[in-house]
Amino acid sequence: MRSGNLIIALGSLNADLTVHCERLPEPGETVPGHDFAVLPGGKSANQAVAAARLGAAVSLIGAVGEDAYGQMMLDAVAAAGVDVTHVRRVPGGTGVALISVDARGENSIIISAGANAAMVPGMIRPELFEGTGVLCLCLEIPVGTVLAAAQTARAAGVLVLLNFSPSPGNADAAAAQAVLGVTDVLLVNEHEAMDLLGYDPAKDWSEAHLGFRRLGVDRVVVTLGPGGSVVLDSGLGAPERVPAHSVSSAGAVDTTGAGDAFTGTVASVLADGGDLLAAAQRAAVVSALSVTKPGAQSSYPDAQEVAAAVEKLAEESGA
Ligand code: RIB
Repeated sequence: MRSGNLIIALGSLNADLTVHCERLPEPGETVPGHDFAVLPGGKSANQAVAAARLGAAVSLIGAVGEDAYGQMMLDAVAAAGVDVTHVRRVPGGTGVALISVDARGENSIIISAGANAAMVPGMIRPELFEGTGVLCLCLEIPVGTVLAAAQTARAAGVLVLLNFSPSPGNADAAAAQAVLGVTDVLLVNEHEAMDLLGYDPAKDWSEAHLGFRRLGVDRVVVTLGPGGSVVLDSGLGAPERVPAHSVSSAGAVDTTGAGDAFTGTVASVLADGGDLLAAAQRAAVVSALSVTKPGAQSSYPDAQEVAAAVEKLAEESGA
């Protein structure tokens, strides 16, 4: 029984220290870059902002440091309409991500957890989930906390949406798999899917669906970058392919946070009572728009921009 339509994103906030360059450096190589920018990021903060821009009621639970980046993150997320009452300020530094973006918009990212590591299981209390319809999780905070949140929210009738990203290291793999047992909807990219299943899901999507079900989740979206996504859900009967969109002839400027835009959009559609296929279709439009601008949160569209893009895509396809 769902208890409300609030979305809670529980997890990470990072300051994204970003430089664009022609091409990403090889190990040991130095390459010149363009201007340096500090942008608001972190997977959970991004997911929260993406959903809020689309009109959803969203609360973020997380931690930032007592530094200037912490205040920047709180201000940015609150300005997007996200409730930050449950974002704590803790001693030390805010999480940071060192991001390089090449001329094709592809990125490489190194994260330093900072305050995100202060998210401990003891913080998770059932009262946090009152009035909540969807809990949105990722793996950028300690996995024991993700598990405690999923278990507590599930017990309260909240739909648990897990973005299995970044892929956990070996030490956390068993705990991360335990989260799948209390997950209602799983979002993974092709690499994360391969890590979980141990084989390429694209070889046979029905077999991959069985594999995910054995891991404990029936409803899964596997994102494939320019290949769109595949929705696996027993309610659909068979795997459904959702095409990717291109909304700009200029191509991608920056793919940073496109997966988070996808996840936040899926959360917003599910919180609104929509189904997973409809959620993946809308998320394809939102993530296509997000790659046309620099940064993660700074690139996310509002509902009006999405409506205009949907209309344009319909015209182009002659619908
Ligand atoms: O998914 C993109 C995000 O990953 C960035 O905003 C960065 O902070 C890292 O968490």
